[in-house]
Amino acid sequence: MFPPMTLNFDVRPNPQPRSAQDRAAILADPGFGTRFTDHMAVATWTAADGWHDSAVVPYGPFTLDPAAAMLHYAQGVFEGLKAYRHPDGSIWFFRAEANALRFQRSARRLGLPELPVEDFLESLQALVRADHAWVPDPAGGEASLYLRPYMFASEAFLGVRAAHHVTYAAIASPAGAYFASGVKPVSIWITTKYSRAGAGGTGSAKCGGNYASSLLAQEEAARNNCAQVLFADAGRHEFVEELGGMNIWFVRGDELVTPGLTDSILEGVTRSSILTLATRMGLRPVERSVGLTELLEGISDRSITEVFACGTAAVITPIGRFADESGRDYTVGDGSVGQTTSALRQALLDVQFGRAEDTEGWLTKVC
Ligand code: COI
Repeated sequence: MFPPMTLNFDVRPNPQPRSAQDRAAILADPGFGTRFTDHMAVATWTAADGWHDSAVVPYGPFTLDPAAAMLHYAQGVFEGLKAYRHPDGSIWFFRAEANALRFQRSARRLGLPELPVEDFLESLQALVRADHAWVPDPAGGEASLYLRPYMFASEAFLGVRAAHHVTYAAIASPAGAYFASGVKPVSIWITTKYSRAGAGGTGSAKCGGNYASSLLAQEEAARNNCAQVLFADAGRHEFVEELGGMNIWFVRGDELVTPGLTDSILEGVTRSSILTLATRMGLRPVERSVGLTELLEGISDRSITEVFACGTAAVITPIGRFADESGRDYTVGDGSVGQTTSALRQALLDVQFGRAEDTEGWLTKVC
């Protein structure tokens, strides 16, 4: 199905791995995105030689020329996926091919070389096998090992063109809940002042620029006690797009609605999994354009009973409240976690953690 594997990710073991005691302390309270494992996967691409120099090496800093194009023109893309420990101790990826394919789409949009799917998967397999002790035992919770593959222009060149020297790397970070509040409903700040991405731009690619453009609005959200920002279309700010790092859904009657994909919305792997799970659970998932007014009126008149965010990091996070720049406040239902949100969340986690049958063939065994 995919081109043959071309890269080997042999392991050069870290001579100074963390002690088992340090690791256990980190795994006991991993938080999100601040602690990293002992190794990383790396590979280099050059216009002349293609992909080469691949390995799993000790985790550590890069040496980067100050003129590296990534630092100036942000030519870089990334992915996010997780490795899950199952009750028998084995370790599994969830829909990693979908991330590999999106990594290719993102790379194309940013003028970067595509990493073959098999190489993407092998880099992560080799990294997780080397750092298998870092995959948390969920023990009834939902901790996992978050994987962050990424690629950036490492050519030292200040002219504006696609780089001829590119670095690929994948790092791993034990992860608990993305939001400090855990799975409690979060508040969302609606901005019509700032946009995340526009038509024809890079919104559907997973590139740092989309996240950088969300940060000022994110700070405004934090000042207003909100955890995330809801972005609307950049044209007239009429249609709901996404939360910057997550897709959004709402429940109205038996319909489960999410904004249809455009070139300014990231196609989430969790979003796509919910489309399938919802159908299996007898719900009617609908992808269509959603007016901001429709969302807020539906919350106000209680025809929208639940709203939630989804993403690899966020899993499924209930949204209890929206607030906006004009001082309006909208509580979803009674502000607590809805039944559909809980059921979908449970169904997804049960598959990921091997507690339910993987009827869709979404899991791949690592070790
Ligand atoms: C993910 O969910 O994996 C992301 O990349 C989003 C980011 C907010 C952590």
